[in-house]
Order: sequence, then C-alpha cells, then structure tokens
Amino acid sequence: MASSPFTDPAFYADRYPTYTALRTSSPILQTSLDGGASTMAVVTGYDQARQAFTAALSKDAGAYFADKPSGRSLHPAIARTMLTVDPPEHTRLRRLVTKAFTPARIDGMRPYILALAEGLVALWEPGTEVDLIEDLAGPLPVTVICQLLGVPTVDRSLVRSWSTDLFATGDHARIDAASHALAGYMAELITTKRAHPDRSLLSDLIAVHDQDEDRLSEDELLSLAVLLLVAGHETTTAAIGNAVLALLQHPADLAHLRTSPHCIAGAVDELLRYDSPVSIATWRWAPDEVDLAGTSVPAGSPVFVCPGAANRDPAKFPDPDRLDLDRPNAASHLAFGHGIHRCLGAPLASAEVEIVLTVLLQQFPGLQLAVPTDQLVWRQSRLVRGLVALPVKL
Ligand code: HEM
Repeated sequence: MASSPFTDPAFYADRYPTYTALRTSSPILQTSLDGGASTMAVVTGYDQARQAFTAALSKDAGAYFADKPSGRSLHPAIARTMLTVDPPEHTRLRRLVTKAFTPARIDGMRPYILALAEGLVALWEPGTEVDLIEDLAGPLPVTVICQLLGVPTVDRSLVRSWSTDLFATGDHARIDAASHALAGYMAELITTKRAHPDRSLLSDLIAVHDQDEDRLSEDELLSLAVLLLVAGHETTTAAIGNAVLALLQHPADLAHLRTSPHCIAGAVDELLRYDSPVSIATWRWAPDEVDLAGTSVPAGSPVFVCPGAANRDPAKFPDPDRLDLDRPNAASHLAFGHGIHRCLGAPLASAEVEIVLTVLLQQFPGLQLAVPTDQLVWRQSRLVRGLVALPVKL
C-alpha cells in the first residue's frame, strides 16, 4: 500500500483496489493516509461505516482546527454549516429546514427537471460528440438548485462559476475568493426575498418557524442557502456522470433499462452503490476516545468514513465489483451517508439522476463512449469521485 494514496493520481483513476487493500487490512484502520505524521481512522467496511455515521463523533471542524491555524479565509457561512455542527444545534437546524424542504416540494420539481434535461439535449445532433459533464451533468443540478432557491435566471451562470470554484481542489485562494463572492450574493438575495417573498425555497426558509416561534437567523439562512448550492451541485454532477459511464460500460444493462424504464429507480440505487459520488464523507473526528465496532479510536483522531469503499464491501454486497441492476439490497447503500447528517437532498438527487437517464435512454439509442475508458480523467478530489469530462458519441 502506498503511504499516501491521496496524493497518488492512480488512486483517483481507480480507487477500488486501494479500498479493497485497506478493508482487507482492517475495515477500520488507524493509519496515516495523507503522508503526514498524524494518524486517522479510515473506515472502509460497510457495518463499520454505518456505525461510524451514528457514533459519538463530532462534525465540528471549527473545534478541531481551532488550535491549528490554516491561514485560510473561507467565508464563515461556508466554514460553518449544518454539516459541521453537532446536536443540539444540528437537530434544531435540521428540524427547521425539513419544514421547508419537503417531499412535496421535491416532487413538484420533477416536471421542471424533465423540461430542463430535455432543453439541454434539444440541440444535440445524432452522430455528433458532446461532453456529457460540460453539456448536461454540470449545468443541470446547479440550475435545479438555483430554481429551487429562487436565484434569478440572469445570475445563474455566475452562481455556477462560484460553486464550481469552491471545488477547485488545492487552489485555496480561488476557493476562499469564491466563498466570499457566493456568500455576498446570497446575503443580497436573502434581503431581496425578505422584502419580496415568492414561492421559492429561500422565501420559505425565511418564513419557517416552529411552534415556539424559533426561526433561522440571518447567518443560518445564509449558510443554509450556500450549503444547499454547494452540497447539491458537484455531487449530483458526479452522480450523473458516473451512472452514465457505468451503463455505457455495461451495454446489456443499458439495453435492459431502455426496454424496462420502470426499473430506473432501482437501477439508480445500484448505480449510486457501484460508483458512489461521495467517496469519502465529510470531516468528522473523535472528541473523546470512542469504540467503533470493537476498534478503539483515540481522542483527537480524525475519522474518514468511506461510502465508496463501504458500498463495495463483499460482506454486505456479494460480488461487489459487479454492476447488478437487480441487486436485492442495492437500496441499503451508504452513498447518501447515514444517521443524523444523512443527505437532505437525497430524493432530489435521485430524481435528477433518474430523469436524466430516462431522457438519454429515450432520445439517444446509439449513445456510446467517444474515448477509450483509460483516457477518461477523474477529479483529484478526496470527497467527490467524478469525471472531469465524459465525451460521448450520440
Ligand atoms: C447524488 C448526489 C448527492 C450525493 C451522493 C450526496 C451525498 C451526501 C452525503 C454522503 C452526505 C452526508 C455527509 C457526511 O455525513 O459526512 C450529504 C449531506 C448533505 N447533503 Fe447531499 N448528496 C447529494 C446531493 C445533494 C443535493 C441535491 C442536496 C440539496 C439540494 C444535498 C444536500 C445535502 C445537505 C444539506 C447535507 C447535510 C445534511 C446534514 O448535515 O444534516 N445533497 N450528502
């Protein structure tokens, strides 16, 4: 095992051999994966990952890094979000947000998502080549979230570029600048929606309150608006790209789905399991020594939970490296995490993947990869497993 897979481009091209080696060594391994002196717990087993998602671990990155100055100037709305706070603060935020981010609202987005996907592919000519990431998987999710939040159409390309910059792995100056630009924009949008409420999610989040008249503060609204944009953009882009690639590599499954469109929802679960877009979950750490599935994790240790590895654990998913659209337990995947921080946007993301696949299967019967698989370039992001580009022939 290379001492530092996270700096090895081969890891990003194909993470699964590394995950298998780690899991075989131990499903919870106390190791130094980033080449540094300090160790972290890396969780690659399925049962162990589920336990880690519900264990007494903290997501409070601010507390962990308080005495480790980074020289960064990330906007506080991005540095501190629902994903980086613990109960009771998290419980309260999640309760208020779920009052506005309802299943009915997400269901109501389906016709919009379908029209958007159809609009994006409308000018694609059979026989030509397109980049599925640049031309469909990239713009669709960010446009959906902008629509949901009520970001005016004219501002969407700007918002998209800031959101993309936030994922510019390693380029701290660019990330920090984008965080300030995006937060500044969102703060103004909140002011506008407060003065002129509409039917957007942002207006509903401004209005939401519980029976004790507890409401989201200005800072909370800002960090939520930014989080929804960021959490739902690159992840869903990666999900669509990975799903399309997996199907193109498995033509028999692709053909089966084309003739059985009712199987798409189940297929999406297996596709999310097979090549999970959030490969390594967000930051968590052990404030006190904690027992994780029989392994003691010392106080102060970061814990990296890897849905991408857990979803390929043969103890849970037999023959895990095989794409099996009829896999009976595919829906037990951990692609959306588990426990109190489980993805808030999971139904929306699944709907987006499902609708995009349906449109592609219906409209482009000859869809195929335009380059050999080994020429595909994967993003060098620990968190997101996704393609930089996916050239396809229509
Ligand atoms: C396929 C696409 C997506 C994937 C794979 C994904 C995955 C995840 C995962 C694994 C987590 C938990 C992280 C952890 O515990 O460390 C999470 C949390 C979250 N996701 Fe997603 N996500 C996706 C799309 C979305 C979308 C579309 C939205 C919103 C519009 C969204 C909003 C959130 C939020 C707000 C949280 C934090 C929840 C909390 O802390 O309580 N996600 N997501």
